[in-house]
Order: sequence, then C-alpha cells, then structure tokens
Amino acid sequence: MANSGAYSTAAAPVKLNDFERQWAETGGAVLDAVREVGESGWYILGRQVSAFEAGLSEFWGLPHAVGVASGLDAIEIGLRVCGCKPGDKVIVPPVSAFATVLAVIRLGAVPVFVDCDSYGLADLDLVEKAMEADPAIRYFVPVHLYGHCLDMARMERLKARFGAVIVEDCAQSIGARHNGITCGTVGDCAATSFYPTKNLGALGDGGALLTRSPEHAAAARCLRDYGQASKYRHEQLGYNSRLDELHAAVMLRAFLPRLSEWTSARRTIAAEYLQGIRNPLIQPLGIPAGSDSCWHLFPVRVDPARKREFMDHLKGQSVGSAEHYPSAMLDQPAMSQARYEVWGDCGRARELCASEVSLPIHPYLTSEERARVVDACNSWK
Ligand SMILES: Cc1ncc(COP(=O)(O)O)c(C=O)c1O
Repeated sequence: MANSGAYSTAAAPVKLNDFERQWAETGGAVLDAVREVGESGWYILGRQVSAFEAGLSEFWGLPHAVGVASGLDAIEIGLRVCGCKPGDKVIVPPVSAFATVLAVIRLGAVPVFVDCDSYGLADLDLVEKAMEADPAIRYFVPVHLYGHCLDMARMERLKARFGAVIVEDCAQSIGARHNGITCGTVGDCAATSFYPTKNLGALGDGGALLTRSPEHAAAARCLRDYGQASKYRHEQLGYNSRLDELHAAVMLRAFLPRLSEWTSARRTIAAEYLQGIRNPLIQPLGIPAGSDSCWHLFPVRVDPARKREFMDHLKGQSVGSAEHYPSAMLDQPAMSQARYEVWGDCGRARELCASEVSLPIHPYLTSEERARVVDACNSWK
C-alpha cells in the first residue's frame, strides 16, 4: 500500500473497536454459552462464575479470582478488603478512567493525585517522595494505563520500604508484564474490568478482583453479595456486585480462549504503527523500558493546539480516533464534590491530556486497515 494518504472518504471506516467482526468469529460460541446458562436455570453465582474465575486465575497466574459487577467495584472492593477506610489517603495517578478515583471516593477515602511520567503512568519517584513526606499515605492504586506495565520491581520496593498497600488497576492491562513480572501480581490485589472494549470484555459490564490472599478473596466474595458470609448471614455492609452467570459463561467459552491470540495481534499492530508512523507532527507515546505491553490502546501525542484538526483529518480519511483522556481526573467537575489532595502540579498529566489521541488497535484490523491508519497519520501536514 503506497503512502499516499489518498483513500476515498467513502472507504469503510476503520473503527476503534469492531464488535461486528468479533461477533462473526465468536457468535456461535457465545450462543452455545447462553444456551448452557439458560438450560441450567441458574443465573447468579453458580457454576459458570466459578469456572470462569478458575480460568481467569489460571490465565493470570494468581490463585484467587472473584468476579464482580464492574472494574469500578473491583477497585473499591479491593481497597476495602485491604483495610482501606474512610479518611485514609490513597495515591492515584491523575490520568485514567474516572472510575479509578471514583472507587476511592465512594469508599470515603481521600485521593492523593501524584503526577504521571511521560508515558502517562504513575511517576514512581514522586510516589516514593509522597510516601516519604507523609506517613499517612500508605495506599496506592497504580494504573497500568494503555496496557503498559509499570515497573513491578519498584512497586515491590515501595511495599518493602513503606509497607505500601497496593491495589493495581489492571483494567487496561490484562496480559501485560514488566521484565517478566505480570501486572497485578505485586499488589495486594489486582482489579480488572470486562467493559466490552477491554482486551477481555463481556457483552456488558463485569469486573474481577485477583489476589494471592485467601482472606482477601473470601472477604471480596462476601462483600460482592451484600456482605453475606453464608446465606442470610450478613457480616459486612456489602454491595450487589456479582458477575452474571451469562457474562462469565460467554467470556469463559468465547473470549478467554482467544485472549492470547488477540493480544498477539495487538502487539503486531503496535509494532507496525511504531515502525510505520513517520510524521514529526505525531509522536507515538512509546513503551516504558521493560514493559511488555498488551496494547489496550495506541496513544500518540500531537500539538494540543492542533489536536482537533488531527482528529478531523483522521475522520476525513475514515479512520476512527478517541481521547484517553480529554482531561485529568482532578479537573473533572465532579471533583468539586470530593475531598482530595494534589502532590505537585500534575503538569505532565495535563499536557498528556491536552495532546493525546488514540488510534485504532483492535485485533480484527485487517492489514489494509492498518496501512490506512499509518497513511492517514503520515499524510497529515
Ligand atoms: C483504567 C480503568 N480503570 C477502571 C475502569 C472501570 O471499569 P468499569 O467500566 O468496568 O467500571 C476502567 C474502564 O473503563 C479503566 O479503563
């Protein structure tokens, strides 16, 4: 494919996510899973959720997985089972899905925003300084944003040095590693999301908490089901946060078996973009040293003053794009209703939000579509 950028605007759009193609490949297995659940007559917390939890735990290499209703709930429940209470301070990065900070606020804890590094991940030097300066800060929710994995050995050191309690937000990072260490395996708990666009998505909402600790897992199972320790015995003030049997069955039969292949496809596409995008006006965000990313997103940076124009140019070439995220979490209007602290000025986070644009990287992109994405980038002046 020549680097002309001259594709007709009538070309079928290159979508950010392509659920039609996913359905074409997986629909048969999905319908089998639905039939199995329907025929079982058991729709809540049954065999499917248990089997999916076992499959996920094996995939992740962590002994316990607890299915919950969303990634948001997984973070909140994760913090709660780790002992986080109202008023406790929790470090969060400023750039993430708003759910990351919302989980902390819903718990009644106090988010402490610590600026990100140039990849959008928590700046671990600053996290260390914050923990050094304020002994009241012991909880940390790092986000493996875009599918890039934070430095897991450094997080291990934060635990050893400060007794930091870490709930890793792995909503975008299933399958990512740093120097061979899988994301989610250093924290006290890992939270993930099965929002449909995620690398492992359901046909609706869902999430999971993963942990090495049998106590944390048992506490999470109790909390997700109104705090019941056994039928009608409520030992905690819990939630209705159960992963549905239907979603569990669909993911177990149709999506989890394809996840490694989908992740390889994402890695191949990322490598093609990194090699092919040769426009000085567009800087791919790149990969932090040591990170074996699962490429949930493919973020690039452009001049903030020309971001809209770039996205319009892509649209003109029938290439979809999005922003992750248009503003730092601390700048969201809802934060005026919450108590929070900010460490430093979060300038890097704001710069990232002003300049970031995400390109399509879903595993069903054809080679022709990938070339169109590269050409659309290279033809922007
Ligand atoms: C980094 C991150 N954290 C948390 C969440 C929340 O997940 P959910 O939408 O399942 O509540 C998401 C998904 O949007 C996310 O991308």
